[in-house]
Formats: sequence, C-alpha cells, structure tokens
Amino acid sequence: MSATKSGSKLKKVAVEVVETPEKVKETAAPEVVVEAKKKILFVASEAAPFIATGGLAEVIGSLSKAIAKDERYDVRVILPLYQDIKKEYRKDFRFIGNIFVPLSWRNQYCGIFEYVANNVTFYFVDNEYYFKRPGCYGYYDDGERFAFFCRSVMEILGFINFYPDILHCHDWQAALAALYLKTIYCFRPEYQFIRAVFTIHNIEYQGKYSMDILEDLFGISYRFKYLVEYDRCINLMKGAIECCERFSTVSPTYANEIKDPYYAHGLDQIVRRNEFKLTGILNGIDPDYYDPATDKALFANYSAADPSGKKICKEELQKMLGLPVKPETPIIAMISRLVSHKGLDLVREVIEQALRQDVQFVLLGTGDSGYENYFTDLARRYQGKVVSIISFNSDLSRKIYSGADLFLMPSKSEPCGLSQMIASRYGTVAIVRETGGLKDSISPYGAGGNGFTFSNYNAYDMLYVINEALGVYKIKEEWTRLVRRAMETDFTWSTSAKSYVGLYLDALK
Ligand code: GLC
Repeated sequence: MSATKSGSKLKKVAVEVVETPEKVKETAAPEVVVEAKKKILFVASEAAPFIATGGLAEVIGSLSKAIAKDERYDVRVILPLYQDIKKEYRKDFRFIGNIFVPLSWRNQYCGIFEYVANNVTFYFVDNEYYFKRPGCYGYYDDGERFAFFCRSVMEILGFINFYPDILHCHDWQAALAALYLKTIYCFRPEYQFIRAVFTIHNIEYQGKYSMDILEDLFGISYRFKYLVEYDRCINLMKGAIECCERFSTVSPTYANEIKDPYYAHGLDQIVRRNEFKLTGILNGIDPDYYDPATDKALFANYSAADPSGKKICKEELQKMLGLPVKPETPIIAMISRLVSHKGLDLVREVIEQALRQDVQFVLLGTGDSGYENYFTDLARRYQGKVVSIISFNSDLSRKIYSGADLFLMPSKSEPCGLSQMIASRYGTVAIVRETGGLKDSISPYGAGGNGFTFSNYNAYDMLYVINEALGVYKIKEEWTRLVRRAMETDFTWSTSAKSYVGLYLDALK
C-alpha cells in the first residue's frame, strides 16, 4: 500500500517537471546559500598519532581534529613520510600519485600518500633519500630536507587540487612553506589568495643557516635576502614571521615573553616589530586520548566523580618501581626532557632538602648527560625514596601521571607545556613556575586555583611552594578538593580552537 503511495507521488512530481518547469521552480524551497568550507592546511614536521618527538606532534594531532569538528572547515595536514611512522597506521596509507619537485637546480621525486581520520585528511610526502632515516631531526642536511618538504607542499597543492585559504605553518621546519608562498608562488593565480599563518611552538629553534645556501639549496632568489637575513645568517623563523599575515605562539604569556630578550633567543626585535600580527593561544590536550576513566595504560581507571582508582594506581606504581608501598607518603613526579630550560638546576639545588621529609620522588626522561648522571646518582643515594628512569616511554609516563600526587615543572621558560595539563587531568597536582603556558594553565592554590606556583626563577621559592603543597597534602579534605579542581579544569581545545578560527578569519581580512 505504502509503496504504491510513494510511487504515485514520484510520478506526480515527474509529470509536473515535464509540464510546467517554471511552476516547480516557483514552489521549490527557497535556495539556501551554502558558504564554501574554509580550507585550512597545516604544514608540520610531526603529528600524533603517526610520529611524535614532543608537544608539537600532540598539538598538530589534536588541534586539527578539534577544528575539523566544525563542519565549516576542511582541515588537512601535510607531513614528511619518515621511516619511523608507526606501521599500524602506515599500512592503511593510500598512495595517490607522485610528482617531481624543483628545488634550486635539483628535481626530486615526491610520492604522496593520504590517510583520513576524524574528518582530517593527512598527506605524507615520500622521498626515501630525505626521510628514510631513523628519527625526525638531527641530520647535517636538515635544512635541505625541510626545504624539500616545504617546496613539495607548494607543488602538491596543484596535484591534489586543494588551494587552502590558510596555510598554517608550524615551527622552523615549516617556515619555508610561508616563504615559498610569498616569494615564488603568490604570483600564480591559484595561489594568490592563500594567506599564511605561522605558529611558534618554541622560539629557541629557529632554523639558522649560512647565507650562501639561500639560492643554491633553498631555491630563494637573493632578491629576497632581506626577508630571511638576521645576524648575517638565514633565519627561517624570522623569515616566516616577516612574511606571514598573522603569527601566533602557544600561550598568551609566552606571546608577551618573546618580546623580551630573556626569552626570545635573539628574535625579540623581530617579534616586537611584528607585534601587531602576534597572538598567544593556549594549547589544549585531547580529552579522549588523556582520560583516566578509559586510559588502558593505567592500573585502574578513575574520574573526578569517583577518584578511588587513583589509590590503586599509586600502590601499583610504588610496587612496580620498588618503592615502599605507603599510601600516605606523597609522590612528587617529574616527566621531562632533561635540558636546562626545564628548570632542572633549581631541582638540583634543593631537592635533597625536600627529601628530608616523608616523600618519594620519581623522575622519567632523557636529555643532557650531566642531568642524566645527576638523577641516576640521586636515586642511588636515596634508594627507597628516589627512582630515576632515564628513558621515555608513553605507557610508563601514564602510570606515573596517574600514580603520583604532585607534578613538578619548574621551567625557566615554557611556551605552553602539556605535561602540567595531563598531570592535572589525572589528579596529580602541578607545581609550576609562572612562565608561558604554565602560568596560563595553573593558578595558585592560595587563590582558589588548581595547583601551586612560584614566580621567580629561584630554587628557594620553589622549595617554599613544594613545602606548601606537602602541607596541604596532609589535610585530607582540602587535598581531595584540590585534586578535584585540578581534574575538572577545562584543558580541552574548545576555547582555543575557536581562537584559531578567529585568527584565520583575521588573516583572511
Ligand atoms: C614545544 C614547547 C612546549 C609546547 C609544545 C606544543 O614543545 O616547548 O612548551 O607545549 O611545543 O606547542
């Protein structure tokens, strides 16, 4: 019965179309003007979950996903196809073709692979000569490798027929994409409306090279020397700042700090001169990826509403690390690269004074041998109290984030920092120095905040707040409330993704 009904309906419409097309036009629903999606292309040297050496990868992975949730944006990401890209993903990459990329006098093979996840299309640039090596960075020819990558990005746009509204370049490895756009490609009709946004994740790494390779290796005419030259060298980060429409960094406080020589590693003048196009947007973390309620690496799952599993995490962590199993003894953890700007000199100065109390200290990380040796020796001298694990392992880091009570991050400078957010989400209260993103994400306990903070880069100021934290830890009800505040802080991308969209629209004006 119903089939006949709908059949006759269809027939009627068809007849109407044939007989009086104008009439159909008249009665049709008013035309809805669908605005074309804004096209965003991230250019970056790493992205989680494919390949990660640090926070940059997590931001590329989670920010692209957050923006792509809004259907008005077509978000794509382009990366080098490193040998170390995880096999579990790589097996599903789809080869979509190859082109040849001009780089100064060379013409190089460039294979293109594609993978789609969470509404984001990822492209991978294949060239075995440049990328079939272990790790991502640290080769004598990194400049040439990333020049090839950036030049490939520009050439691939035609091949995939995707000319973005916004070319969003991250850190020095992607800086040349913005430079190529403004010096070579913007004269071509399809490229002329592309706007460049550049994000600094850490101003310390600028991509500095000798001036004489500008034409020969990077393929940029000496006419444009003024854009990249700084201190008589090529400075790729400087070049990207000069030629992008907008640039940003990963927290509002860091955006202010990099105008100051103390934080800017020589670029403060350039930052100040371009201040009118600078914004600071605080990073977020992926709430699905870092969720103590579902994280499979944990000994037990828990949440802010029911934190009981955290006790099991602590007990099992103590057992695993060979520490005395004492539920009442607070564990202070550090998970960090062992490099000077992480504030390790402060730790070295006063940690033994903190260790006089009933406390355990756990460190996970690798880095400069001086620090590695120091922490190894500290663990030897304080057996049963201190454990130093000189390596990095994501599974173990999650066990530590969940099993510890306090998370120490006294950085000298910290563009954003993600560990303090992850720790807080896992109910481990952060102790941070008020710099960069640490200042913007952790607020002091005394003012009703979610952690403990100190302002001056001074070991005794740090010791003072460690002692304050250990004092609050003893007041159980107060501590429970503080842990809850830490866990409930909104570290998602919801606000920051909107700020990036605002930045894009601003760049397009
Ligand atoms: C860099 C910064 C770090 C930031 C990360 C992601 O690694 O040093 O502070 O969180 O980039 O933006």
